[in-house]
Amino acid sequence: MDILKKVKEYREEEEKLKWEGTFAEYLEIVKKRPEVAQTAHSRVYNMIKSAGIEEKNGQKIYKFFSNEIFGLESTIERLVEEYFHPAAKRLDVRKRILLLMGPVSGGKSTIVTLLKRGLEKYTRTDEGAVYAIKGCPMHEDPLHLIPHHLREDFYKEYGIRIEGSLSPLNQLRLEQEYGGRIEDVMVERIFFSEDKRVGIGTFTPSDPKSQDIADLTGSIDFSTIAEYGSESDPRAYRFDGELNKANRGIMEFQEMLKLDEKFLWHLLSLSQEGNFKAGRFALISADELIIAHTNETEYRSFIANKKNEALHSRIIVMPIPYNLKVSEEERIYEKMIKESDMAHVHIAPHALRAAAIFSVLTRLEVPKKQGIDIVKKMRLYDGETVEGFNSVDVEELKKEYPNEGMKGIDPRYVINRISSAIIRKEVPSINALDVLRSLKDGLDQHPSITPEDKEKYMNYIAIARREYDEIAKNEVQKAFVYSYEESAKTLLNNYLDNVEAYCNKNKIKDPLTGEEMPPDEKLMRSIEEQIGISENAKKAFREEILIRLSAYARKGKKFDYNSHERLREAIQKKLFADLKDVVKITTSTKTPDEAQLKKINEVIARLIDEYGYNSTSANELLRYVGSLLNR
Ligand SMILES: Nc1ncnc2c1ncn2[C@@H]1O[C@H](COP(=O)(O)OP(=O)(O)OP(=O)(O)O)[C@@H](O)[C@H]1O
Ligand SMILES: [Mg+2]
Repeated sequence: MDILKKVKEYREEEEKLKWEGTFAEYLEIVKKRPEVAQTAHSRVYNMIKSAGIEEKNGQKIYKFFSNEIFGLESTIERLVEEYFHPAAKRLDVRKRILLLMGPVSGGKSTIVTLLKRGLEKYTRTDEGAVYAIKGCPMHEDPLHLIPHHLREDFYKEYGIRIEGSLSPLNQLRLEQEYGGRIEDVMVERIFFSEDKRVGIGTFTPSDPKSQDIADLTGSIDFSTIAEYGSESDPRAYRFDGELNKANRGIMEFQEMLKLDEKFLWHLLSLSQEGNFKAGRFALISADELIIAHTNETEYRSFIANKKNEALHSRIIVMPIPYNLKVSEEERIYEKMIKESDMAHVHIAPHALRAAAIFSVLTRLEVPKKQGIDIVKKMRLYDGETVEGFNSVDVEELKKEYPNEGMKGIDPRYVINRISSAIIRKEVPSINALDVLRSLKDGLDQHPSITPEDKEKYMNYIAIARREYDEIAKNEVQKAFVYSYEESAKTLLNNYLDNVEAYCNKNKIKDPLTGEEMPPDEKLMRSIEEQIGISENAKKAFREEILIRLSAYARKGKKFDYNSHERLREAIQKKLFADLKDVVKITTSTKTPDEAQLKKINEVIARLIDEYGYNSTSANELLRYVGSLLNR
């Protein structure tokens, strides 16, 4: 696609969307489409809603966030339902500053950035359109032109409540440029843009001594005082602080609690009363959603300080914990790598999974519940089935530690370690072992890891390694079986037919001859023995399988290879047992004979074609699994 052509199209599109007219004409628009006059909070909520909401196992998924933020579905749901939604309805939370509080690189900035980029797009759509008094540096809401004594009538006619007073600057312009005729005041459609400083503001604390309040609220323009004669003439003032520019939209405060108190008070009055003080003017009305972020340490010391009590009650704190699902963590890394300069590097299958297992473990609390360890908990959180536990148990586990996820290894650390593993290795191809090794080596340099943490983390590296070893062995053994899925399915169905016949005391039909035969005891036992089911326990096991089978049938669900964890394990082991020796010998021989060489090449080809390896990582995998099997 020709980039210049795209730029041109964008510009033309913008031209088309442009609108300007008198206030009288604007009122016609308001009458037809009252949403153009909605508050900033309401616009943000409608933007989130308009992207769509899905429901998955009772969990609401907001699509606005779900392409970028992974594993934080319930956090996002809470954010929307406890803040954005009620704030849109003009409930009291709107008057509080939204403070996202969470551990480093846990996605706080990403959430805010999504909102900012989202608004830029949304204000270019019909539903998200915003209009402002033309030429106003604060893009003031045109409805402020309606005098206070007529607002009750306006509400009766239009159903819209107007908040805030006309700013001193527009007051003056109304008198001087329009002779007081509000119907003639020019109005234009505006498009939010952080770059152009429209509707989106960002504030980052710098050195508290040198930071100037003008950054927030604008300042006197000394060069024009002579022209206007007085410092209190609004034309001699530049309304170009971040709070001015963010009017009608969103104002982000990075590291809010690092700010000097005098800055914080401005924010409070803005969020609480909807106005702030600038220069020598009467209070200036502004309508903006204030969203700030901070980490937990700073937050704790902030609330520990008695002086901050009043501020504290006007902030609504939303915890943003780390993701606790291994699969979602993998997606986070994939996304971060895609956005980085490592995108060209081959990352062997399961390398990111191994890292994700490690990170998630460092974030989890050790469960108190009987019969469950941290690895099982990790699996349950990720939605895997763990024999003997169900979704009720998962809820109970979550309740044990309501603040789980506020500490542990952060995604940025993992990405940094992956990138240093890449630098260390000459070929642009890394595997799980490279990644785990690099994660381990980096622990010493990590600024916030205590010696106790380190010991725990080393153990988690070891667990991640064991998990990976299993995955690696399975992968290679699968690659040795011609068409693994098919073979597993056939064996499973065969087993189920026999179990059914056994439990119902029926005969089984030979598929070839149609002859009736008793169930194949030898086949059933050869599978059950793989997972240590004794002769005495076999009947109970078979009945359990049959119950599961009919439960699935009743719910209209298909019973397959993954429907019963232990059975899956048994089938897999049975398939592997049959070729264990072949795998072991073939992968570890130093001098393969012709037949072995052929097999190795076949397996490597399958790993590359079907499992996503490249030739480096496939060869590394075979060598590693060979060493594992010969231990
Ligand atoms: N749950 C998540 N889903 C998707 N990406 C995530 C998630 N958590 C972290 N990330 C990614 O990690 C990186 C760091 O996230 P971000 O900068 O948003 O964190 P932060 O909470 O603002 O951190 P800090 O406290 O260091 O400012 C980003 O690339 C972000 O996309
Ligand atoms: Mg950040």
